[in-house]
Amino acid sequence: MIFGGSSTQSLAAALAGELDDELALVDYERFPDGELKVNVGDVAPDRAIVVASTASSDAHVECLQLQDAAREAGASEVVTVLPYMGYARQDEAFDPGDPVSARAVAGALSANADRVLTVNPHETAVCEFFEPTATAVDGAGVLANPLPDDLVDPLFLAPDEGACDLATTVRDAYGRGATDHFVKHRVSGDEVDITPSDATVADRDVVVVDDIVATGSTMSESIAVLRDRDAASVSVATVHPLFAANAVTKLRRAGVSRIVGTDTLERPQSVVSVAPAVAEHL
Ligand code: R5P
Repeated sequence: MIFGGSSTQSLAAALAGELDDELALVDYERFPDGELKVNVGDVAPDRAIVVASTASSDAHVECLQLQDAAREAGASEVVTVLPYMGYARQDEAFDPGDPVSARAVAGALSANADRVLTVNPHETAVCEFFEPTATAVDGAGVLANPLPDDLVDPLFLAPDEGACDLATTVRDAYGRGATDHFVKHRVSGDEVDITPSDATVADRDVVVVDDIVATGSTMSESIAVLRDRDAASVSVATVHPLFAANAVTKLRRAGVSRIVGTDTLERPQSVVSVAPAVAEHL
């Protein structure tokens, strides 16, 4: 039986469809003091699959409650799917006094999970913070599906070296094209410097591929560079369309032609589903 978080209802339903499993009708309540409470109804699951992206602190609490409610309802196995794992980018103590936030949340989420899966974590190493080690699901290939068949001399570009594998995955799924990467230096939380590669982009259709678009700084800087160099079009493909604050506006102002994301986070741009990729691991 599938138990979806309030922000992950579409993917939970898609996964239920893929697995031909029942979808629990979860109620989500907020008390006047701000505390949350889920209710999973009168169910008796054998295997419970909790599907909840943890993009906010509330979503973390909700996920913990879903795990606990499933156990309380008698589930002998609780599998937790984190389509988007929040706090994963704080995977080390970058400054003296910092926490390793990814380890802290993984510890809490492991307490009531027999198995954890997460989709394209920022660094696969965060999987080791879970007990037992989480499974990293690669859902990026599906990002090729909404791209038009007739891209001209397509270039699948990673905005930094860390996204090279993603760009290659999407290129391979698309079936043709080259890959390349820029070099990124992060100046602050919402400011980055992009050093372009030597690749010729004029008159080519470029697809910039990244795991997360958060503030949109990485993507908008990349798009601007590509527009300056006369790319025919610039599409953005991202596994996790977080789009914090005015990220979408930044991308539009920079001249993006198309934005495609998956349903790890429910956004208007979440046009493809990672449900089949997750289902393969279940
Ligand atoms: C970091 O290296 C990630 O892969 C993304 O590039 C980053 O999270 C994007 O953040 P933003 O949209 O804030 O530039």
